[in-house]
Amino acid sequence: MIVPAAAGLVAWLDPLARDASGTAMVRVAALEALPPDGTPRRVTVVAGKRDGWTREPDVPLGAIYLRRTAKDKVVALHSVCPHAGCFVDYQAERKSFFCPCHDSTFAMDGSINDPKSPSPRPMDTLQVEVKGDDVWVRFVQYRTGIKEKVEVT
Ligand code: FES
Repeated sequence: MIVPAAAGLVAWLDPLARDASGTAMVRVAALEALPPDGTPRRVTVVAGKRDGWTREPDVPLGAIYLRRTAKDKVVALHSVCPHAGCFVDYQAERKSFFCPCHDSTFAMDGSINDPKSPSPRPMDTLQVEVKGDDVWVRFVQYRTGIKEKVEVT
């Protein structure tokens, strides 16, 4: 019974669930706030930073797009363009994403829409968990300008 007690103590001291790399899952939205038709909703990822026993107040870490693709299924796309790091906009009238810096276009699922797009890969997906009524995301940054999806550590 020591192990569950210790796990509970860790969770109480650090309420953000962390994976093996130390990256926390962050609550980003209420499931019901996402349109059921899959229209992307841009949300700001906000979380506190922890350094030893010191916890800084919540700060914005970045932005993502969330798409509800089924009743309890959500896809998260990073808003940073994989080409050179500009922010990607969602264009509702075209039902696609567009990066204004060098004109990369992406489909609703984040795939490259136009073969002439300079982006070397699709929009980056993020790990998502739906827990009850809440949507949690493992928010990380990826290297830009390369074909492979490589996490910045
Ligand atoms: S940064 Fe997005 S197309 Fe270049």
